[in-house]
Amino acid sequence: MTKTLGLIGSGMIGGVLARLAVDAGLDVALSNSRGPATLGELVADLGPRARAVTPAEAAAAGDLVVATVPLHAYDRLPADVLAGRTVIDTMNYYPERDGHIARLDQGELTSSELVQRHLAGSRVVKAANNMFFLSLLTAGRPAGSLDRSALPVAGDDDAAKAEVAALLDILGYDSVDTGSLADSWRSEPGTPVYVMPYFPAVPPWGSSPDKLHRWFVETEGAPVTAGRVRSLIDRAVRIPIADRLPT
Ligand SMILES: NC(=O)c1ccc[n+]([C@@H]2O[C@H](COP(=O)([O-])OP(=O)(O)OC[C@H]3O[C@@H](n4cnc5c(N)ncnc54)[C@H](OP(=O)(O)O)[C@@H]3O)[C@@H](O)[C@H]2O)c1
Repeated sequence: MTKTLGLIGSGMIGGVLARLAVDAGLDVALSNSRGPATLGELVADLGPRARAVTPAEAAAAGDLVVATVPLHAYDRLPADVLAGRTVIDTMNYYPERDGHIARLDQGELTSSELVQRHLAGSRVVKAANNMFFLSLLTAGRPAGSLDRSALPVAGDDDAAKAEVAALLDILGYDSVDTGSLADSWRSEPGTPVYVMPYFPAVPPWGSSPDKLHRWFVETEGAPVTAGRVRSLIDRAVRIPIADRLPT
């Protein structure tokens, strides 16, 4: 049972997961690249269950640790401290942000397999990577609610996936086991389960970046049940990186 969630990365997704965890009664240890002193405002906002630490301290403090940094920083995750731990990988590969990584461009590895290779002693589980951060903040519901959403969970270790599913349950989400890290391309950017199903309409693609951003921020989410996640995952086709939609 997770009591403390360690967060390596405290931006949009890290901040939302910290908020959901604190609201669920967990302690959170938050870290970023610039140092604990830069996290004062977020920690104050989260309240007494939150503290700011270094990435290595977050790795050591968490019963479960979330790696939620831009993918280009994956090889700076503290592999030594994370050894023996379950690590939730929320990261997605965006070459325009992360630079090109040949093995991902060629579809040789999924981004989570790459992360697992760096964190060789950890149990990496891909989860919470396919919802827009504001959707993730607002769509959580108590277990059994008809409008509860589900998230895909992929990993090579069944016990680690169960741990992550238990955490997601506490945070307000059902989960769907979508297989191994090699299978996790099924929830990567551009796939049917990625971001859009959690919205009730199609965004105004082609409009200005500002307008598009406003649409994502202002449009209320739509629930996606476990059954729907399963069918969206089953429908996925591996899309070449260059042909991905701009989500
Ligand atoms: N935003 C979304 O809606 C969304 C949804 C699903 C998945 N994701 C994925 O989740 C990951 C995080 O996304 P985000 O939107 O939360 O990013 P973000 O807002 O840019 O935050 C990134 C965080 O990572 C920290 N960081 C960067 N390099 C680090 C390092 N070497 N060590 C420790 N911390 C480091 C940053 O700290 P500093 O600010 O101090 O540099 C920041 O706190 C990305 O891979 C993204 O693709 C995002």
